[in-house]
Amino acid sequence: MAVVTELGYLGLGVSNMAAWREYAAQVLGLQVFDEGETDRFYMRMDYQHHRYIVHNSGTDDLDYLGWRVAGPEEFDEMKRQLEAAGVEFRQCDAAECQERRVLDLIKFLDPGGNPTEIYHGPLIDYHKPFHPGRGMHGRFVTGEEGLGHLILRQTDVQKAYRFYTDVFGMRGSIEYHLQVPQAPGVIAKPVFMHCNGRDHTVAFVGGPAPKRINHLKFEVDNIDDVGLTHDIVRDRKLPVHLGLGKHSNDHMLTFYHVNPSGWLVEVGGVGRKATHQSEYYEYDMWGHDNEEPGYGLDLRLRYDWSKK
Ligand SMILES: [Fe+2]
Repeated sequence: MAVVTELGYLGLGVSNMAAWREYAAQVLGLQVFDEGETDRFYMRMDYQHHRYIVHNSGTDDLDYLGWRVAGPEEFDEMKRQLEAAGVEFRQCDAAECQERRVLDLIKFLDPGGNPTEIYHGPLIDYHKPFHPGRGMHGRFVTGEEGLGHLILRQTDVQKAYRFYTDVFGMRGSIEYHLQVPQAPGVIAKPVFMHCNGRDHTVAFVGGPAPKRINHLKFEVDNIDDVGLTHDIVRDRKLPVHLGLGKHSNDHMLTFYHVNPSGWLVEVGGVGRKATHQSEYYEYDMWGHDNEEPGYGLDLRLRYDWSKK
């Protein structure tokens, strides 16, 4: 069976290109560049040509996701797996492969209707060292673990779980049973999936959501970059949805703030890798208090020590 090896690139649609360029470089530290096109720019976080294409599409949402397979044989095998699962895909031509800077490419929709791409052979620019948009103490964690993780909208979480396990070869399970303060008695049971050493690459929460993406995680390898980004976000008075805290699943020190498109970015790091065995939690280790409600993660994550 062919398996996806990493979440390799994302297409983001935005309405304010100038705000995103400035935010990406000065708040997140990404390398921002374009190649003369007026309808898009690129964001880079390692040697790969780009990890993000930011389109002037006005959607202020995730426009597409790119999942990598190891090579041409796995690419063909993945097409057979999609056919066997009854998923209609489109083989892309040379121009579309060049647009993504990959050797081969197909496009289709995942069970939640999210535009999804499978590719092999990304362009790696080893002659161009990564140059962050602002000073960084360390680096972004990518490599074989891909660009990070995201929560992706799904209308049927069980159907999505089956697709990402049976067709993509990912593993995962429910990892939290969380109280929903606005709906006493309701327990949210998000599902987390991994395909490499990263604790999770995609997660599904279920329920109605205004956007395909809830949040995108940028992992750094130096705790001081979490602190630096936190200072910059606080100085700019960007809304912080979840304050500093440490997740029980990936053990990373993180916080969540709102980007210029109105959805969340999580910056954090220095945690643990995928355990490859299922376990679940009722609380985070500490923190992640809900500061600014209304961005899709209004959940009780921290244990209440005032309770007996
Ligand atoms: Fe996250």
